[in-house]
Amino acid sequence: MEFTNQKWVVAQHAQGHLHPDNYQWQEEILPEPQKGQVLIRSIYLSLDPTNRVWMGEEDTYLPALKIGEVMRGLALGRVESSQHPSFQAGDLVSGLIGWQKYLITDGVGLSKLPLLAGFPLTAHFGLLGHIGLTAHYGMIAIGNPQPGETVVVSAAAGAVGSLAGQIARIKGCQVIGIAGTDEKCEWLKKELNFTETINYRKESLQTSLAEYCPNGIDLYFDNVGGQTLDTVLHQMNNFGRVVVSGMISQYNADGSKHIFEHLLDIVTKRLMVKGFVCLDHMYYAETAFTDLLGWWQEGKIRYRIEVIEGLASTPSALLKLFNGSNTGKLLIRVSDE
Ligand SMILES: NC(=O)c1ccc[n+]([C@@H]2O[C@H](COP(=O)([O-])OP(=O)(O)OC[C@H]3O[C@@H](n4cnc5c(N)ncnc54)[C@H](OP(=O)(O)O)[C@@H]3O)[C@@H](O)[C@H]2O)c1
Repeated sequence: MEFTNQKWVVAQHAQGHLHPDNYQWQEEILPEPQKGQVLIRSIYLSLDPTNRVWMGEEDTYLPALKIGEVMRGLALGRVESSQHPSFQAGDLVSGLIGWQKYLITDGVGLSKLPLLAGFPLTAHFGLLGHIGLTAHYGMIAIGNPQPGETVVVSAAAGAVGSLAGQIARIKGCQVIGIAGTDEKCEWLKKELNFTETINYRKESLQTSLAEYCPNGIDLYFDNVGGQTLDTVLHQMNNFGRVVVSGMISQYNADGSKHIFEHLLDIVTKRLMVKGFVCLDHMYYAETAFTDLLGWWQEGKIRYRIEVIEGLASTPSALLKLFNGSNTGKLLIRVSDE
């Protein structure tokens, strides 16, 4: 059987904001998988802020992509055919399948996914996967929230932020979520039980934080960096913890990165500031997923997913993460389940 692959390759490294010219669409006929290989059909492709980080010219926590290389991307798919002893046709797998419909691989880096009774396939990205791992590891393993503490989360209505904030609520904290629209703030407060929310596009962050955190901030889960981090640092309590999950405000800011006013607070307030990348903590996945599935079954945690149809939409859909128009974990449906 012949498979026609469709893929987005890197045409130009990004400078500043992403642009359609950064990618080029290509099609190719794939050969049959050889001995030791497996052919995967992508079903859901995860769009992540880090896709922009990977589009730079320099190595970061993963090597820089080369021009002409398939765009890197985490996806979930099914094994179509296998000449590999560890995989069988029909297996559900996830890994760096890339922005393409099919991948032929030797299986290195692929994980087999269980079929979760009562959960849609998309839960592997909305609640579990790298999103759940990041929220749980960052909030629990690094942040260690204690009952009664005041916790602030930025990009709080996003995939990671919404889980991180709910986890802190489950642990008995007062949780203030920062988000960019009234609709997102309403969802956080009414449906996710956040204590208070701040629409940073309409309100003064400094003033609203002072109002909602009268006893200061004990723990900040940062997804945004830049001015938001700067403002929060200045309102942290002595010996507070800052968990740095991401800095989306800085990913497009080539040449105009935020210059910090309040870094000295790290010393004077004796803050713990810790960055992390979930890929280093795969060993922790079982702990995180056991909790997350349990909380979901008990009705204590929710997530939302936004699915956009078709691989062809991928470059334009990715921009939603940077203009804030995504309403939940952003996925591309590459092919039928
Ligand atoms: N450390 C790790 O291993 C790891 C793993 C996954 C993700 N992350 C990080 O977690 C963060 C959230 O990722 P996600 O996948 O959950 O995405 P997401 O929060 O679902 O979507 C991104 C959100 O960021 C906000 N945003 C975009 N540009 C902004 C800006 N300039 N200033 C303030 N807010 C801005 C927007 O929401 P608003 O409408 O609220 O502005 C947007 O909806 C990112 O920083 C990402 O890099 C880290």
